[in-house]
Amino acid sequence: MPNVREAKGEDLDAVLAIERESFPNPWPAEEFQKHQEGGIFLVYELRGKVLGYLIASEKTSPFRGSFFHLENIAVARNARRQGIATALLADLISIAKEKGILTLLLEVREENLAALTLYKKFGFIEKMSLLGFYSDGDNARLMELQLATEPTGSS
Ligand SMILES: CC(C)(COP(=O)(O)OP(=O)(O)OC[C@H]1O[C@@H](n2cnc3c(N)ncnc32)[C@H](O)[C@@H]1OP(=O)(O)O)[C@@H](O)C(=O)NCCC(=O)NCCS
Repeated sequence: MPNVREAKGEDLDAVLAIERESFPNPWPAEEFQKHQEGGIFLVYELRGKVLGYLIASEKTSPFRGSFFHLENIAVARNARRQGIATALLADLISIAKEKGILTLLLEVREENLAALTLYKKFGFIEKMSLLGFYSDGDNARLMELQLATEPTGSS
C-alpha cells in the first residue's frame, strides 16, 4: 500500500482540516499529537497531499486479550468513494496481523451509513448498541472484526 504511511508532525494541518470538515465535534490538535507519540496514526497521501487518516491504539481487556481500538478515521470530503478508507483499514489489519492481534473494535454512530457500510464490507459485525454514547446523545454501535490466524507454513 504505497500511499499509506505513518503520520509526521507536518501532516497535522491537513489532518485537522479533514477532521473539521468531517465531524461536528472535531478532536483538538493535542489529541492528534498525543496519538502521534504513542499509538497508530496513519495517513493516506497522494501527490504530496494528505487525503485521509486513521488512528488506532492497542488495548487489553481480560475478556479479549490484546486488541486494536479504531479511534478515528476520516477522508477529505472531495476524495471520498475512491478507496482511501479501505486502504487505511487494510494497512491497520496488516499491522494487527504482524503483531499477532486478531481483534479490532470500534464505535460508530448509528446514523453513519457510509462508515457502517465500510466496516461491514471488511467483515465487522455489530456486537451491541451503546445508548447515548456520544456527548450529543447519539447512540453508537460497537463493532468487532475477528481476524483469521495466518497459516504458519506447509508441513
Ligand atoms: C466513512 C469514510 C471514512 C469512508 O471513506 P472513503 O474513503 O470514502 O471509503 P471507501 O472509498 O474506501 O469506501 C469503501 C466502501 O464503503 C462503503 N461506503 C463508503 N462511503 C459510502 C457512502 N457514502 N454511502 C454508502 N456506502 C459507502 C461502500 O461500500 C464503499 O465501496 P464502493 O465505493 O466500492 O461502493 C468517509 O465517508 C468519511 O470520512 N466520513 C466522515 C468521517 C466518518 O464518519 N468517519 C467514521 C467514523 S466511525
